[in-house]
Amino acid sequence: MRTSRRIASTLLAVALAAVLSACGGAPQSALDPAGPFAERPDDLFQLVFWIAVVVFVLVQGLIIYAVVKFRQKPGDTALPVQTHGNTKLEIFWTVIPAVILAGIAVPTVRMVFDLDAEPDNALQVDVIGHRWWFEYRYPAQPEFGIDEEFATANEMIIPAATPVRLRMTSEESGSAEGAVIHSFWVPSLAGKQDLVPGKTTTMNIEANEPGRYLGQCAEYCGLSHANMRARVVALEDAGFDDWVALQQSPADDPEPGTLAAEGKALLFETKAGGNACVSCHAIRGAEQEVDGQLLQAAGQVGPDLTHLMSRREFAGAIFDLYERGPDGEFLLDQPNEDLLAQWLAQPVEMKPMQPEAGWGMPNLGLTDEEVEAITAYLITLD
Ligand code: CUA
Repeated sequence: MRTSRRIASTLLAVALAAVLSACGGAPQSALDPAGPFAERPDDLFQLVFWIAVVVFVLVQGLIIYAVVKFRQKPGDTALPVQTHGNTKLEIFWTVIPAVILAGIAVPTVRMVFDLDAEPDNALQVDVIGHRWWFEYRYPAQPEFGIDEEFATANEMIIPAATPVRLRMTSEESGSAEGAVIHSFWVPSLAGKQDLVPGKTTTMNIEANEPGRYLGQCAEYCGLSHANMRARVVALEDAGFDDWVALQQSPADDPEPGTLAAEGKALLFETKAGGNACVSCHAIRGAEQEVDGQLLQAAGQVGPDLTHLMSRREFAGAIFDLYERGPDGEFLLDQPNEDLLAQWLAQPVEMKPMQPEAGWGMPNLGLTDEEVEAITAYLITLD
């Protein structure tokens, strides 16, 4: 009695867990495709799944039938008829699965090549994996309004209903040396593809509708692998054109004498460990006179911050740059200054990183006043 009750409660718990896990929606599911490069593999999956269901029901049905029909009945004492192999049956159950597998192989292999073929009129985006964030470079493509290459991080912006060709690799501070393998995976838009140091891999993505598609690094790449998220935001054509125009423009310069201007100057100051913010980060158009020399913010190690606030998340897309409304929507008039300030003060405490090895943001030992000024500047970078 007690055992059966325990079994019943376990089954109930399992059923409850299954129901609850289905409740939260599935923002990151390959079973919820949102574009052609995810729909086709999903169609194939559906086909294979239903073939497997038929096989499962048939095999299990036969087993249950045999168990019930040929079980020992009261009074049965004689040994049942003993058989040793049945050539006809064995050929039958070898040939059938072979035919099914060969049948599935044809559309599978064809699709592997189809999905990798470069689409016509595709937007090209170069994806570079770093420890632990994704960099997106948009090379010059006049047909998409891009006259000069620019870079962004974490969030890839694409036009909806347009194929996008990704060329991907992995780098550490501009070189393949010391880099590790990452994997770019936005399940509702495409399959997974590795980013391999010293090699360029390709993948196509496309979103049918405007929207925000979630993904993450899918290849273990060290300490903050789980904190290396990917976002793809598909916009209407007009919205994409505006975004491209914004990204190509230089950063706004703060009014002299403001806290933001003070923050900007601080980015060029050498801090703890002999680094300045601009040794790692680029802010196109930002320059500062230091000791009679005009310096540019042109670091190439960390994310490009030129239009930081045009993004929604930072630090590998694990923290919100804006406060959120009741439905989880970003409130674009409320920058998340506290979180940004906390990040500047204690980066390694907020996201596990190894800056001493060159992976991630070091603690520059900023004072509270410095953090406040730099935050004031950063939130002007829209
Ligand atoms: Cu990058 Cu895991």
